[in-house]
Amino acid sequence: MFSACQDLEIQRWTQVPAPYTREHAEDFVGRQARAAWAAATSTPLAVVDATTEALLASVTLQSMTDEGDAEIAFWCVPEARGQGVTTRAAAALLRWGFGALGLERVEWRAAVGNHGSLRVAQKLGFTLDGTLRHAIVLGDGARHDCWVGSRLATDPPV
Ligand SMILES: CC(C)(COP(=O)(O)OP(=O)(O)OC[C@H]1O[C@@H](n2cnc3c(N)ncnc32)[C@H](O)[C@@H]1OP(=O)(O)O)[C@@H](O)C(=O)NCCC(=O)NCCS
Repeated sequence: MFSACQDLEIQRWTQVPAPYTREHAEDFVGRQARAAWAAATSTPLAVVDATTEALLASVTLQSMTDEGDAEIAFWCVPEARGQGVTTRAAAALLRWGFGALGLERVEWRAAVGNHGSLRVAQKLGFTLDGTLRHAIVLGDGARHDCWVGSRLATDPPV
């Protein structure tokens, strides 16, 4: 986690703290992720290489509600980008979310200009719903406009 989150693209486009310290990683893995699973509010998952177990990506359903809402979040280490890792992992996560977890609506948000994330969302079958003004706070601590998209349990499979 510590080395992955040194990546400037992850720091630029996600809500991980910047600068990202070893203490941030230890707190996330040792406390926050465990607490999220225990509370069933979020499903932080590591995507690892099947042979080396090296961390490739992170995919999460978060802000989960009893009414069947959730938000999807993801990032991928620079060395593994462009190979479909995030799309495949997120697609599996969505199948689980809409299937076993019974989710009804999953939202995707990305700061305006994050075309890589937008492309992943499109490949996952999300519909772009619009732009929200100043609705996302990134690692720089500033508010940014963000794209918002959704995928419904009733949407046709991609
Ligand atoms: C966005 C991100 C998760 C994509 O991960 P990935 O594993 O490379 O994704 P995939 O390989 O499954 O698919 C990437 C797609 O985006 C496209 N893409 C990547 N960068 C792009 C860009 N700048 N503009 C347009 N398309 C882009 C790729 O060409 C590919 O599409 P294709 O299959 O049609 O060729 C990764 O770049 C990343 O971690 N970025 C920094 C963190 C981040 O932005 N997270 C999302 C926050 S909302």
